[in-house]
Amino acid sequence: MRDAFIELDGVEKVFDVWRRTGFMKRERHRVRAVDSLSFTVARGEMVGYIGPNGAGKSTTIKMLTGILTPSGGRLRVAGVDPSRERMRLAHRIGVVFGQRTTLWWDLPLIDSYRLMHRMYRIPAARYRENLERLTELLDLGGLLDVPVRQLSLGQRMRGDIAAALLHDPEVLYLDEPTIGLDVVSRTRVRDFLRRLNAERATTVLLTTHDLRDIEQLCSRVMVIDHGRLVYDGALAGLHEAGESERTLVVDLERELPPIEAPAPARVVRVEGPRQWLAFPASASAAELVAKVAARYPLVDLSVREPDIEAVIARMLGPSGGAPEPPQERAGRTPS
Ligand SMILES: Nc1ncnc2c1ncn2[C@@H]1O[C@H](COP(=O)(O)OP(=O)(O)OP(=O)(O)O)[C@@H](O)[C@H]1O
Ligand SMILES: [Mg+2]
Repeated sequence: MRDAFIELDGVEKVFDVWRRTGFMKRERHRVRAVDSLSFTVARGEMVGYIGPNGAGKSTTIKMLTGILTPSGGRLRVAGVDPSRERMRLAHRIGVVFGQRTTLWWDLPLIDSYRLMHRMYRIPAARYRENLERLTELLDLGGLLDVPVRQLSLGQRMRGDIAAALLHDPEVLYLDEPTIGLDVVSRTRVRDFLRRLNAERATTVLLTTHDLRDIEQLCSRVMVIDHGRLVYDGALAGLHEAGESERTLVVDLERELPPIEAPAPARVVRVEGPRQWLAFPASASAAELVAKVAARYPLVDLSVREPDIEAVIARMLGPSGGAPEPPQERAGRTPS
């Protein structure tokens, strides 16, 4: 293993939450958001960090940046305890929260960058050079003079990513950087991250609900559930562990009884002339399509990729909750 750049050893985070239980009555609840979490990330690695809603991903990232202090355990980034030396570490890390912006809402994009220039005391030549490079790579040229509130979501996200990198951080934390982006913006962001990691060896920790972000970017993926690490390894291994399935959606000429598909493929849903067939993610869709097409009057078809929640739910078994039946999902266009 190369030298560990990020190190967590038995890290915990417990929140005390007060809930109203009646008039003038409150009850204290303890939420264990992160539970004896241990892992290391080497310098230059690009790691996917995934898990269901509320699993503790954002809490982990906030502890890694020093925004939150762990309730227990040991945490180091570049040998530094983030919550104790937050300011010192700030020069070495960059963070993007897809759900909210770090940019000044009413100011043109370039003004936010100028403020960062001063805040991080970036040497003038390096600032100019980075600004130029990031503007080009993230295609921000026409947007620098636009107030942030007038940017589209995808434009704003690219603006945020540039802001996080102006000071040449050694590590970049991305908390759902592709959320809500269309296919074109998503691809652009992915291409950029791949290049950043390859050319500048920036260490990247990426949280996402889109499995294709991981597929295209990360050779290693960590899965967290209820604050605990439940998987750490290659994405392929995750598919195996989760017996992950894809879904073939076919439109037949007319309403027919469920298709008799070659096992292990099987029909999981029928709605009029449309039928949904689940099959192992590792199997060839072309083979299944050919077999179905040979016996049934096909009009149209599409293949849905497994989503992370379903894969994880399967991996966690019955205690992790049964996977939801495949559903119509707007905006899940293959990219
Ligand atoms: N400031 C807080 N106060 C109290 N509870 C919190 C706080 N922040 C997070 N939690 C709780 O901690 C748990 C983990 O939340 P976290 O935001 O880390 O999840 P997540 O994995 O990022 O989920 P998502 O995929 O929905 O973004 C949740 O139960 C959440 O309600
Ligand atoms: Mg989150």
